[in-house]
Amino acid sequence: MSNLVSELLAKMTTEEKIGQLIQLTGDFFQDGKAAITGPINELAHLKLQTVYSVGSVLGVSGAADVRRIQENYLANNRLKIPLLFMADVVHGYQTIFPIPLGLGASFDPTVMETASGIAAKESVAAGLHVTFAPMVDLVRDPRWGRVMESTGEDSYLNSVMAQAAVKGFQGDSPWDEKHLAASVKHFAAYGAPEAGREYNTVDMSEWRFREQYLPAYSAAINAQAMLVMTSFNTLFGVPATQNQHLLRDILRDELGFHGVVITDWNAIEELVHHGTVRDLKDAAQKALAAGVDIDMMAFAYAEFLNKAVELEPGVLKLIDESAQRILELKETMGLFADPYRGLDESKEKDPEFIRDNLVQAQKAAEESLVLVKNHRRTLPLSQRQNLAVIGPVAQTGDLLGSWSWKGDVETTQSIADALVDTFSEIVTAPGCGYHSFNKQQVEQAKLLASDADVIVAAIGLPSSESGEATSITDISIPAEQIALLKELKTLNKPLISVVITGRPLLLKEVHTLSDAVLIGWFPGSKGAQAIANILSGKVEPSGRLPMTFPLNLGQVPLYYNAYSTGRPIEVGQKNGEYKYVTKYVDSSNEPLYPFGFGLGYGKILLTDMTMVSNSLKMNDQLILDVTLTNDSPRDSKTVLQCYTHQKVGETVRPLKELKWFKKVTVEKQSSLKIQVNIPVARLASVHQDLSTKVDVGDYQVMVGFDSMNLKVLDFKVKE
Ligand code: GLC
Repeated sequence: MSNLVSELLAKMTTEEKIGQLIQLTGDFFQDGKAAITGPINELAHLKLQTVYSVGSVLGVSGAADVRRIQENYLANNRLKIPLLFMADVVHGYQTIFPIPLGLGASFDPTVMETASGIAAKESVAAGLHVTFAPMVDLVRDPRWGRVMESTGEDSYLNSVMAQAAVKGFQGDSPWDEKHLAASVKHFAAYGAPEAGREYNTVDMSEWRFREQYLPAYSAAINAQAMLVMTSFNTLFGVPATQNQHLLRDILRDELGFHGVVITDWNAIEELVHHGTVRDLKDAAQKALAAGVDIDMMAFAYAEFLNKAVELEPGVLKLIDESAQRILELKETMGLFADPYRGLDESKEKDPEFIRDNLVQAQKAAEESLVLVKNHRRTLPLSQRQNLAVIGPVAQTGDLLGSWSWKGDVETTQSIADALVDTFSEIVTAPGCGYHSFNKQQVEQAKLLASDADVIVAAIGLPSSESGEATSITDISIPAEQIALLKELKTLNKPLISVVITGRPLLLKEVHTLSDAVLIGWFPGSKGAQAIANILSGKVEPSGRLPMTFPLNLGQVPLYYNAYSTGRPIEVGQKNGEYKYVTKYVDSSNEPLYPFGFGLGYGKILLTDMTMVSNSLKMNDQLILDVTLTNDSPRDSKTVLQCYTHQKVGETVRPLKELKWFKKVTVEKQSSLKIQVNIPVARLASVHQDLSTKVDVGDYQVMVGFDSMNLKVLDFKVKE
């Protein structure tokens, strides 16, 4: 412990220490305006004796507001301990990047790192010290609205992206004033609610948790994330926020996390609703015992303020430990040296400050868009073609996605406007609403489109339909929009669908009706321009799907890295050929678009692949020399992907697991040699005793450009 922290702790009363453990929204402070991201407890004010002892604030930002609140607080706080300001800066602050699912689709950790670095720089200027990001919850069920906040269904991709995000937000130590502290969330397994219903029960074996869900949190912690946020859900039968096994045994002891643990909004009070505590006081004690340092908006720790004199020595010791961790975080962030660290009103208002950030946001969007169909090379379009841009998403700036509270939808360029700048002539009309359709509107759109060379249908869902608390039971494109596509199809012109979405949707009909389909996600502040650049061919599409797009809802959850079963269905085997295999009677098992899938405009082939040695020891690397050839007349980009499979394991093994990937450009009419290095340690699996280790035995490595079409080689791991 530093001298500064130990001296402060020695001077603090128990009430003051407890105060550090409390987090409030900005509206508890003079004129603070806060982003409200959860239910507000109306009795809250009564439970607080004073705001001048609390340790941190959430949801306020803006240099002027932060300065004013901090000044007033310090004038009234006995020991002059500065407040920490925290907020959800998830995929950008002022400059909005694609949603995290889109950043995952870039399959390029440098894109994530850059996005997080810029988000950090902008939010530090606005007075923030901590972001509630990255969200690294593994997701497999598109009914859950928060899949948009994750980088997808694969634990390796998520781990790589989690590390990149932490690095981007926090920078390298020592701390400078362009970075803030990252809070990895939601610990743990929040991304697996039953039936995709928000806040529902999560239940899985600890073996599965460790195999698939834990690695990304662990990667973020290895990257030195300073905070961890607990999740709302239960795991192993106990809510995460009071789960000692999760928060003490796994997080603190096993993963070696020494930072601050914060709850999600009101999660301590919600323990009462979970029925695992008697009342708010019991909830506070159980959360504290589990090692929760900060109570976000539950006022459970505030209850302690009144009871401080009666607290037992064991409880006082826990309060001391938590207060110490919070003070240490403040010290590391440089708040004792400068409580106004990094905040800068002039930068905040300076268009120059964000100009380059917008360039990066556009690049990120260009890397994240996924072309999933391109029949007879409909795309790229010639800039001389006349375009009709039709659909409910054509003229809107609602392209930022959830968790972009400082982004401005009103001033965000629409897809139609971006296409105007790129193509010679364009006409545009909505054709229908997101969920509404009338004959007159569609006829008007058809009339406009009848003179165009090509129709771009901008379809999908508004941002309000993905994000927190937006679970849905039907992941189809609304019937009204399918009706619009059918009407447009009657014009017999090339039809390109651009799909704006925060989750995988059922796109079978869109696929059939369209000549080309581009998944746009919510692409951010410069997303429309990125879409225009992909459609015109100025930029090569290079995003790949970080989540499987199912064929129908009944297949959900559908993910590529399923385990072997006792009655497998062989690839290519026709449905109905055998009865007693793992299948549906009314549907194929296969998705519409698999994980890792996406097309480019050029044609890159895997023309050679050799293994340096097919017999490896535990400390070795699996090395492959791969040759890619691009015969096409344009430079092209792809994502080379390597998966492995352990043929015989102590526990059942996935059919394939991503272990390596790289985005590469292959110039026109040329070949590129790439060396793949996979440390044998990365082949580790979780055993029955929950240990994680590599087994000796036979393995396969599979290489290709998506998770389904792969070239296979065998190798062995020896003692
Ligand atoms: C929420 C979210 C969490 C967020 C927090 C603070 O309800 O679940 O992700 O960080 O509130 O805004």
